[in-house]
Amino acid sequence: MSRRRIAILISGRGSNMTSLIEAASAPDFPGEIALVLSNRPDAGGLARAQEAGIPTRAIDHRTHLTRESFEQALDQALTENAIDFICLAGFMRVLTPWFVERWAGKMINIHPSLLPLFRGTHTHQRAINEGVLVHGCTVHFVVPELDAGPIVAQAVVPIIPGDTEETLSARVLAQEHVVYPQALRMICDGRARLENGQVVFAEGWDASGVLRSPSSGPLPF
Ligand code: GAR
Repeated sequence: MSRRRIAILISGRGSNMTSLIEAASAPDFPGEIALVLSNRPDAGGLARAQEAGIPTRAIDHRTHLTRESFEQALDQALTENAIDFICLAGFMRVLTPWFVERWAGKMINIHPSLLPLFRGTHTHQRAINEGVLVHGCTVHFVVPELDAGPIVAQAVVPIIPGDTEETLSARVLAQEHVVYPQALRMICDGRARLENGQVVFAEGWDASGVLRSPSSGPLPF
C-alpha cells in the first residue's frame, strides 16, 4: 500500500500531533505527515510542527462568517496539499455533515474517554464524579454524530483514589500518545479497515496494539 499523505488538524498545544509526527518519522511508517492545519493561528502545536519541518497552515474560523465557508477553506487546503487522510488531534471545532461525509472513512479522531461513555467535554471530571474505576481514550473514525463512530483502538487507565482532573488527564494523555500512532499505523498498513461501518482487523492482529491497560500490561488474549 502506498504511503498515505496525512493531515493533522489541531486547535491547541498539539501533544498528540507531536506523537504522530514522531511515529511517522520512522522509515517503515506507512504514511507521512504532509500538513498540520489549525483553526487557531496561535495554537502552540503550529510552532512544534514547523520545528519538525512539517508544512503548516492556519485557517482562522473567526474570519469566516459561516461554518460552511470555514470548512470549504479547510477542504481546499487539504486538496491543494493532496491529503488523503485526516487525523483530528485536539481539533475543537464541530464539523458539519458535509465535511464529514466528504472525508468519510478517511478521518479519525482521538477522544479522551472510553466511548461511548462521556462524549463531549470535561470527560475526566465527569468520570471522577460518576465513580467509575476505569477511564481512558478512544481512537475512532469520524461520523456526523459527535464523538461517535467505528472504534479503532482504546486505552484503559485506572482511576486512583484522590485523582483530580489534572492527574487523571495526564494519565490518559500518556496513553493517547501511545495508542493514536498505533491506530494510525494499523489503518495505513491495512491491518484495520472500515467495512460496512465497522472496523475490521486483519488476521493476526495483536490485541496489545489496540487495547492497552498500563497497570497490567497488554491484556492476556
Ligand atoms: C487531547 O486530550 C484529546 O484527546 C482531546 O483534546 C486534547 C488535545 O491535546 N480531544 C478532544 O477532547 C476532542 N473531543 P493535545 O493538543 O495536546 O493533543
